[in-house]
This record gives sequence, C-alpha cells and structure tokens, in this order.
Amino acid sequence: MVAGLGRTWNGDAETQLASKEKMNRNKSHNQSPKLELLAFDWDDSAVIPAETELILEDADRVLQTYWDQWHKRPIEQYVACDFRDVWRAISCLTSSGLARGNTFCEWGCGFGVVTGLASQLGWESVGIEAESFLVEQAQRFLKRNRLPGEILHGNFLPPGSERLARSQSNHASLFHQIPSAYEQHDLELDDYALVFAYPWPGEHHFQQEVFRHYAGDGALLLMFLGPYEIELYRKHA
Ligand SMILES: C[S@@+](CC[C@H](N)C(=O)[O-])C[C@H]1O[C@@H](n2cnc3c(N)ncnc32)[C@H](O)[C@@H]1O
Repeated sequence: MVAGLGRTWNGDAETQLASKEKMNRNKSHNQSPKLELLAFDWDDSAVIPAETELILEDADRVLQTYWDQWHKRPIEQYVACDFRDVWRAISCLTSSGLARGNTFCEWGCGFGVVTGLASQLGWESVGIEAESFLVEQAQRFLKRNRLPGEILHGNFLPPGSERLARSQSNHASLFHQIPSAYEQHDLELDDYALVFAYPWPGEHHFQQEVFRHYAGDGALLLMFLGPYEIELYRKHA
C-alpha cells in the first residue's frame, strides 16, 4: 500500500511535472513575439516641402546617372523605392506618435536616400548597406545634402538570423558574406524604434521574421512592397 501510495504519489508528481512543463511550453509558445499589421493611413498626396524636394531632385539626378551607366557597375540587387511616397509615410509616422523612440535604421540603404530623408525628419538615422560602391555613394549623398545620418558598410542581418529562412536559402539578402553591421555601432538591432526595408520580391516574410525575432519590443517595421504598397508592423514581445 505504502509502495502503491508512493507510486501513486510519484505518478501524480510526474503528472504534475509533465503538465507544468507543458504549461511552460505553452506559455513560452504563447509568449513568442508577434508582429501586428497596423492600420496606417499615410497621405499619398501630402505636399513635400521645397527643401526636401531639393534633396529628392539630387537623388533623382544620382539615380538617373547610375541607370544611364548601369552596364559599367551593375548591382543586381539594387532597386529604388518610391522616395517621395516613403518620405510621405515616414513624415506621417513621425507626427503620429506611434514610434517609441527616435532611432531609425534602413536595411539595405542603397544610395542612402531614405536614410537621409529620415534624418531630415529628425530621426537618429543609420543606413546599412553591403555593397561598397553604394556605401560610398550613400555617404557622399548625405554629405552633399548636409544630412546628419550615418552609413554603415555591413550586413543588416544579425548573426544566426539566416536560420529563419528555413529551406529558402535563395533570398537576396542572404547572399552577402559580410559581417553584421551592428557590431561596428553602439546601436544593436533591438535599439531601433523604426526599421525601414524594401525587400527583394519573395523575401518580405523572411525579413519580417528577422524583425520579429531580433527587434525590440514595440519597434516598428515599415516596408515598401511596391508602388502605393507601404505596410507598417509593430513587434510585441
Ligand atoms: C531593393 S534595394 C533597396 C534600396 C533602398 N532601401 C531603397 O528603398 O531605395 C535593396 C538593397 O539592400 C542591399 N542588401 C541586400 N541584402 C543586404 C544585406 N544582407 N545586408 C546589407 N545590405 C543588403 C542591396 O545591396 C540593395 O542595395
């Protein structure tokens, strides 16, 4: 009887332990970070101030020169977003009070235009780019337009994040064998209040996963997915 009671007790204890572990598993499962798609109504007809238009005209010239001479330095992964609409979206976000901070990071900043526009809107702005030619161009763009942003030569993917691509190892952003940029800077990915990305077609889910795992609680992800298609997400830890 005593042994039996003991077994019963041990059995109960095991059951209790097992159900506690299960609860903890469920708890950690329930607590896995989430991305919430926010209703974000930016004004696509908002008037762009004259001083910003001068910066945009400089960007147009730089881009035109680049496309005219593309054969000399083809960068397969570079495509520009609609700078004016992205300015409208960031400008709207800036005055909305949605962001929990003032730090901005552009993933794959190309010629640095969005990084520069964000810095002009008052964000502490950092652009990360893997292609050295574009890094140089972006630094020149900021300097020429007297914009205070910073451009880092490196990988915007944090170390280890490639596992989130699972079986899809052909995403454009995985092709850069270059160290993570965050290590050169005092801001880690989870220090940014706002990240902007224009992902290559087909990899927006991967980039969202990277953001969901590595961004800080409450951080915002603004994604340009095509003309007029700008989405805003918030991470909940
Ligand atoms: C589609 S373009 C977008 C450029 C710019 N953000 C814009 O919206 O106009 C993507 C850029 O990201 C860069 N890029 C891609 N993967 C990267 C990575 N893992 N780390 C850093 N830069 C990357 C590419 O070189 C390219 O300049």
